[in-house]
Amino acid sequence: MEKQIIANWKMNKNALEADSFLSNLSLTPGIDVKIAPPSVLLPTMRDHAERLGITLGAQNMSEHVKGSYTGEISALMLKDAGAKFVILGHSERRNLYHENNDVIAKKVECAVVEGLPFILCVGGKERDTQESRKVVKHQLQTALASLTARNMRGSMIAYEPVWAIGSGKIAKPEEIEAVACAIQEEVQHLFDGEEIPILYGGSVNEENIEEILTVDGIGGTLVGGASLDVQKFMQMIKTTGEYS
Ligand code: PGA
Repeated sequence: MEKQIIANWKMNKNALEADSFLSNLSLTPGIDVKIAPPSVLLPTMRDHAERLGITLGAQNMSEHVKGSYTGEISALMLKDAGAKFVILGHSERRNLYHENNDVIAKKVECAVVEGLPFILCVGGKERDTQESRKVVKHQLQTALASLTARNMRGSMIAYEPVWAIGSGKIAKPEEIEAVACAIQEEVQHLFDGEEIPILYGGSVNEENIEEILTVDGIGGTLVGGASLDVQKFMQMIKTTGEYS
């Protein structure tokens, strides 16, 4: 299966910086590169990204379809602005903005209804692998409860241990493999054997990406901090291409 690389820019870069990033990006042909910039940049980046063959997505969205929800953005609005996917359930949303599994389940449902593929992030604060397996299984069961195998097509799951995000520490390959295996087992159990790509995220950079891409069961990476630097991002795209 082709390996994925997805940049999560979080709340970084303005329109000028985004434009200069894209102008300096020279891409390895044949790799599907995805970037999730701040939503307000989607319309401004859209044409440039399309010319480069980059797929844009969003980092979050409302759990409602429309209405009186000040400050929120719906799945349909994101699609309108050029998003082709949305990241849901990121631990920064869970921890800083108190999104619980029920809210995330509603967001997942909205994304499915609007035909917007999602990347569901799972993972908790625990260090123990057995505990991590339990936590991610519960997160998957609650977030995906109302979906069918068909609803999952085009979507992915990202395993991101909370302690690995932005810390410079990555989980050990055997831990990543064990949790990725638990995720795949749960997805297959929920969706009659349907396999979906599982990504790893948390302090991925140009130096450790190779080690992560060689872990059994890992279909790609979700990269935060290191994806903001165009040189590092290009290096990571190149390495991803070598493992696809
Ligand atoms: P990081 O973030 O690569 O900066 O650790 C990853 C993420 O939060 O998706």
